[in-house]
Amino acid sequence: MKLNFGMDLVRNLLSSFCVLTLLLIYTDCCEDQNACNCTVVQGTFFADCSNLGLNKSPVFWPNVTNINLSHNKLTYLPLESTLPSNLTFLDLSYNEIKHILNKTFKGLWKLSDLRLNGNKLGVPVNLDRNAFADLENIKHLDLSNNPELTFRIMPILTYGLRNSPIEILRLNKIHCTFGPSTELRVDDLRYLKNTSLKELHISSNRLEIVEERAVGYLPQTIKRVSIADNNLTFGLYLLELFFLKNLEWINASMQHMSHNPREVLKSFFFFSCNNKRRDNSEESTSETANKPLRYLTNFQKQEFSSSRMNYTFPVPYNLKTLFMNESGLGYSIPEIRFTRNNIENLYTQGNSLRSWIGPVRSLENLKRLDMSNNFCTSVSDYFFQHLNSIVELYLNNNLLGFSLASDREGKIFRYLNTLSHLELKGNKIASLPTAVFVNLTNLKYLDLSNNLLTSIDFNISHLKSLTYLNLSSNQIQYLSDSTMDAFDQHSNQAPITLSFSNNPFLCECKTLKFLHWMDQEKNSSKIHLNNFNEYTCRKEGKLIKFVDIQQHIKELEKECASYRTLIFVVTSCILLFLFILTTGLVYRYRWRLRYFYYMTKSRYHGYKSVRGEDEQTDFKYDAFVSYADKDLRFVQQMTSKLEGEKGIRLCIHHRDFVPGYDIAENIITAINKSRKTILILSPNFIESEWCMYELHIAKMEEIYNRDNENVLFLICYEEIPAPKIPLSIMDVIHQKSYLEFPNDEYGNTVFWDKLHAAIV
Ligand SMILES: *[C@@H]1O[C@H](CO)[C@@H](O)[C@H](O)[C@H]1NC(C)=O
Ligand SMILES: *[C@@H]1O[C@H](CO)[C@@H](O)[C@H](O)[C@H]1NC(C)=O
Ligand SMILES: *[C@@H]1O[C@H](CO)[C@@H](O)[C@H](O)[C@H]1NC(C)=O
Ligand SMILES: *[C@@H]1O[C@H](CO)[C@@H](O)[C@H](O)[C@H]1NC(C)=O
Ligand SMILES: *[C@@H]1O[C@H](CO)[C@@H](O)[C@H](O)[C@H]1NC(C)=O
Ligand SMILES: *[C@@H]1O[C@H](CO)[C@@H](O)[C@H](O)[C@H]1NC(C)=O
Ligand SMILES: *[C@@H]1O[C@H](CO)[C@@H](O)[C@H](O)[C@H]1NC(C)=O
Ligand SMILES: *[C@@H]1O[C@H](CO)[C@@H](O)[C@H](O)[C@H]1NC(C)=O
Ligand SMILES: *[C@@H]1O[C@H](CO)[C@@H](O)[C@H](O)[C@H]1NC(C)=O
Ligand SMILES: *[C@@H]1O[C@H](CO)[C@@H](O)[C@H](O)[C@H]1NC(C)=O
Ligand SMILES: *[C@@H]1O[C@H](CO)[C@@H](O)[C@H](O)[C@H]1NC(C)=O
Ligand SMILES: *[C@@H]1O[C@H](CO)[C@@H](O)[C@H](O)[C@H]1NC(C)=O
Repeated sequence: MKLNFGMDLVRNLLSSFCVLTLLLIYTDCCEDQNACNCTVVQGTFFADCSNLGLNKSPVFWPNVTNINLSHNKLTYLPLESTLPSNLTFLDLSYNEIKHILNKTFKGLWKLSDLRLNGNKLGVPVNLDRNAFADLENIKHLDLSNNPELTFRIMPILTYGLRNSPIEILRLNKIHCTFGPSTELRVDDLRYLKNTSLKELHISSNRLEIVEERAVGYLPQTIKRVSIADNNLTFGLYLLELFFLKNLEWINASMQHMSHNPREVLKSFFFFSCNNKRRDNSEESTSETANKPLRYLTNFQKQEFSSSRMNYTFPVPYNLKTLFMNESGLGYSIPEIRFTRNNIENLYTQGNSLRSWIGPVRSLENLKRLDMSNNFCTSVSDYFFQHLNSIVELYLNNNLLGFSLASDREGKIFRYLNTLSHLELKGNKIASLPTAVFVNLTNLKYLDLSNNLLTSIDFNISHLKSLTYLNLSSNQIQYLSDSTMDAFDQHSNQAPITLSFSNNPFLCECKTLKFLHWMDQEKNSSKIHLNNFNEYTCRKEGKLIKFVDIQQHIKELEKECASYRTLIFVVTSCILLFLFILTTGLVYRYRWRLRYFYYMTKSRYHGYKSVRGEDEQTDFKYDAFVSYADKDLRFVQQMTSKLEGEKGIRLCIHHRDFVPGYDIAENIITAINKSRKTILILSPNFIESEWCMYELHIAKMEEIYNRDNENVLFLICYEEIPAPKIPLSIMDVIHQKSYLEFPNDEYGNTVFWDKLHAAIV
């Protein structure tokens, strides 16, 4: 209870104090009580009379210094008598004031800030040249948004202000939006030369050209110039800006034209197209005003005339920020260099700079470059070569997908070691090579949203400093194992934020691992998934929110387990079938395969075994004798008969095979190098594997090497019981003639003669 009471007391005290202070601050300030809201802040007396529908200014107390009469219905400036003598600030914007008269500013000599924007000001033809001279202390004058004022006011205005301390002059939109283009002339600016003007705003004036030398009359103190939303064409004045040593900031956005500076600048020198004004009243003789021309003559003329142009574009030394958004620049960027400069921010978005060739030289201090929305389809490997200080690079909404996809070694971005912020939104990027960002070791922020990526192929470990990666609105269905590993690895070094909204994720068996990963990472402190609540995945045509993915994962696991078994069984069956099929085929063609295998082998290695050294087409042997070892006795007999008596060369494996070589290989070369192959048929023959091998090889030789010429010759040495004869021999017996060994004295002589005849 006690405590509560104490609190109440304090609160009451506080509120009464507040009321007191309010009373102190809000007082009357004009004769007409309650009209204005008057406050005193730090000794300055503010009278806020805005938005009161006044058509006549109230009479203010003499100690008021700041008056806001904006958004009323005044049709003329308040009379000198109604305004306090020490007035320094007067806001008359958005009234209906029509005329500037000879005496309009009489008595406002103390005024330092006058706003007349948004009225209906016009200039009478006979306005006194000194009309503005009454504003002896003016620092800030705003005449914007008086479309009927026109540049006709300029000579009078600048003459009147020639001795004033003017710093900020706002003359935006002092021309009708529709009408002929305008020109800013020497006479418009001549008397500003000796002022200390810091800012000049002449946006939205349909300005098309600035007269030659006019820029030379801007004072050296000028820091900021806004000439946005005009219809500027290229002209010498651009080069003249070079002499404004303190110029730091230019807003030249939104120009509606498209000209190639090459053509325009060329025409200046060779076709004397120099926009001279028609009613040239006073010829300027000023030393400084002539300087730009002389500079250009000595320095640039040859460069523009050579076929391979080498631009050194003069820019003011202290220029830091240049806005050229939507300026209708429409050409490919050639190799270009600038005079020594301090440009840090360059905004050229929304033009038609379709191909960036470069290199752009001497922008060593450039930190922020915006080249978004330029329909650019190609950027060269060396375009950024000399832009080594860039920290922020905006390349959104171009068509760089193709250039980047073919940049396998990361050449395009290789020089941007200091880059920390890169935006590549909406570039139709379908794939990025592994090494595309290899040198961007300081990159922190990478935005690849609104592209066509299906997987993340660039090497994430190249981007050592990455903390934010935006992949939303791509075509990613799931992340591969290696990508998830890469993210895990990366996040072990530094936490990272990933954004995956709006990707067509899949909830399927093959993506199960990915779903697990996402589910696990959503609570991880190392990987932050931006907008996780928005992520969905498609399962059998239905969209599932990742937020409640867990139960679906369980379902999927079950489904996939049976699915996996099915796949296992089916593949096993297929493999088994294939195995049986190939074994069958190999068995069926085993002789052919062996034959060709050895033939090929010997062809590649040359005949070294039986065939001997002489590589003649003639056969080395008349006959190769195929027999079982048990029938050796008969073969010896045959050798002595045929070789000894008849001079026939036989190949006998016991004797002629070269030791150290494969038997199979020896057999093939022997058969190949013998005109005939004699088979000594006997029960032993049938039992011998090698004999059967020789039979088959000889058959192959006959078919594939001898054009079906008769090679095989059979001798029935011992009777074989008919059921024991294998099919393959049966075939041969049926097709070929064969000799039976009679095994008696007379018959033997006949037999050997017959055999000799058959072989020879
Ligand atoms: C005067 O201005 C103060 C602060 O802007 C505002 O709270 C107050 O309502 C105004 N009073 C009148 C009468 O307009
Ligand atoms: C106007 O300013 C001068 C000098 O600061 C001062 O002496 C004079 O009193 C002021 N007049 C009024 C009405 O406050
Ligand atoms: C301003 O002058 C009026 C009389 O002209 C006086 O009543 C008022 O207190 C003065 N206000 C301030 C803040 O000096
Ligand atoms: C004057 O009042 C208008 C309307 O309240 C306000 O928008 C404007 O900012 C004021 N002018 C200045 C210089 O404060
Ligand atoms: C304004 O002054 C000029 C000469 O300085 C004079 O010709 C003209 O008549 C004057 N206009 C008015 C309305 O007094
Ligand atoms: C500027 O000042 C210089 C010397 O102070 C003078 O010679 C020149 O005429 C002045 N120029 C203008 C345009 O007033
Ligand atoms: C440049 O001028 C245009 C047209 O007046 C304006 O819309 C834009 O905001 C300005 N840019 C900056 C950065 O001030
Ligand atoms: C700008 O000037 C060009 C001529 O240089 C003209 O063709 C074009 O219509 C002008 N555009 C506007 C919006 O005035
Ligand atoms: C130019 O672009 C920059 C960055 O995109 C922006 O901040 C600026 O306001 C734009 N200016 C104009 C005139 O559009
Ligand atoms: C271009 O000019 C610069 C300096 O003005 C010079 O160093 C360079 O060699 C020139 N390049 C060509 C291709 O002429
Ligand atoms: C880019 O990275 C590669 C490989 O890491 C390196 O060899 C090369 O020197 C780097 N290039 C630049 C310009 O830093
Ligand atoms: C990615 O780059 C790192 C070195 O930065 C390298 O060790 C790794 O093998 C690369 N990974 C791939 C898939 O190329």
